Amino acid sequence: MADKALNIISICGSLRKGSYNRIVMNALPALAPEGMQIKEAPPIAEFPLYNADIQNSTGFPAAVQTLADAIRSADGVIFNSPEYNFGIPAPLKNAIDWVSRVPNQPFAGKPIALQSASPGPLGGGRVQYDLRRSMVFLDALTLNKPEIFIGNCAQRLDDKTGRISDEQTVGLIKQQLAAFAKFIGAHGGKS
Ligand code: FNR
Repeated sequence: MADKALNIISICGSLRKGSYNRIVMNALPALAPEGMQIKEAPPIAEFPLYNADIQNSTGFPAAVQTLADAIRSADGVIFNSPEYNFGIPAPLKNAIDWVSRVPNQPFAGKPIALQSASPGPLGGGRVQYDLRRSMVFLDALTLNKPEIFIGNCAQRLDDKTGRISDEQTVGLIKQQLAAFAKFIGAHGGKS
C-alpha cells in the first residue's frame, strides 16, 4: 500500500511565522484521505530574487534545484497562499519564476490544488486566479473545484493554538483533498 500512496507537497506563500495560511497548510496531513501523504515542500524563503544572470553564471541556486526535484517527484502540489495586493505574494511568485526556468520544467503536467485564507471577506480568492494563470503557462493541471477560500479567517483559524477552529472549513478542505486524489488518478497519476 505504501508504494501506492500519493506523495503531495505543499508550498506556503507566506513567510511569516504566525501565518494563517501556514495554519491551514499544517493541518493538511491530518485531513488527507487514506492513501494521500502531504508534506511541506523544501523552503523558498532563501531564494535570491530571480535574475537570469545568476542562472547563466553560477547556475540555478541549490535551493531552487531542491524544490524543482521535489515538485518533479511529487504526485501533486498544493499552494497555500495569501493574496497580496490582489495578486501572488512576491516570495511565491519568485519561487515559481525560478522553478519555471529549470530544464525539464517541473510544473508541466503536474496536478495542482489551491487554497487561500485572508482576514478579508473574500478569503484571498483573487490570488487563485493569478496562480491559475501562471500554472496555465507552465502546462500544470489545476483542480477546478471545490475551491477553498477561507474568508474572515481570524474567526476560523486560531492563531493561538495554530488549529482550524471551524468545522465547516475542515469539512471543505477534506472534500477538496478527496477530489484532488481523484483528479490525480483521472490524469494518470496513482489512484
Ligand atoms: C495584504 N492583505 C490582503 N488581503 C486580501 O484579502 N487581499 C489583498 O489584496 C491583500 N493585500 C495585502 C498586501 C500585503 C503586502 C499584505 C502584507 C497583506 C492582508 C493579508 O490577507 C493578511 O495580512 C494575511 O494575514 C496574510 O496571510 P498570512 O501571512 O496570515 O498567511
